[in-house]
Amino acid sequence: MTVHVLREASADAGLPLVLLHGFPLDHRMWEPVAGRVDGARAVLAVDLPGAGGSTAADPALPEPALEASADAVAHALAAASVDRAVVAGLSMGGYVALALLERHPGLVAGLGLVDTRSTADTDDARANRLRIADEVLASGSVDPVRPMAGMLVGETTRASAPDLVEQIAAWIDGQDPGGVAWSQRAMAARPDRTELLRGFAGPVAVVVGEEDQIAPLEAAEHMVAAAPAAQLVVVPRSGHMSAVEQPDEVAAALSDLAARADSA
Ligand code: MLT
Repeated sequence: MTVHVLREASADAGLPLVLLHGFPLDHRMWEPVAGRVDGARAVLAVDLPGAGGSTAADPALPEPALEASADAVAHALAAASVDRAVVAGLSMGGYVALALLERHPGLVAGLGLVDTRSTADTDDARANRLRIADEVLASGSVDPVRPMAGMLVGETTRASAPDLVEQIAAWIDGQDPGGVAWSQRAMAARPDRTELLRGFAGPVAVVVGEEDQIAPLEAAEHMVAAAPAAQLVVVPRSGHMSAVEQPDEVAAALSDLAARADSA
């Protein structure tokens, strides 16, 4: 797994900010935010197992589990000499950030939970993921998940920025079908990590697009109620891809989170 340096740090710049992407995308979805983060801290991102340059075959993936994704992130960061960071994840990236907090707590100085949830899938959602994983493998293509491009964004973006929907579709088209199926199965297997949040005293930013119908405001409020030091940011004119749809607001929220973590 490669650690992509989206922005180099200057000296004494504060904790690095590590960004974990959503499904079925890769680190490129964070580029608009990275350039807008305040200050001079390093902004890093990875392609999670099965996504982008971390294809299903390179290295061969273990049994589908987000715990394996979290361990791979910790390993890659250690190799890049990062042993403490502010970690923010969007949707699937948020699930991985929580797994990272559970398995590598010393690494996580602050937590950004963007358009995500701390709960496990319902039985229906889990069955749907496993069906889509089977379809992707049977077709050998990402066709079964391509329609997600239009569903990930909110109604405002769909109406006013069709180029963003096309950009997301192009990112999806570039994904490896084996990796897409692996990620779906890994997400289906994740547990509820709300209790873990209750025990995390560090700063937390819970960010949600006001038009997000995939991980809506109620899911965000559930996490805010659990985490002792959580702040809620609702992003106007945005759906589930707030980091892509409204990068200014998301960068501001994560800048504030990182400043809180620096001074904690
Ligand atoms: C994502 O954006 O990562 C996905 O919507 C996550 C999911 O399917 O739960």
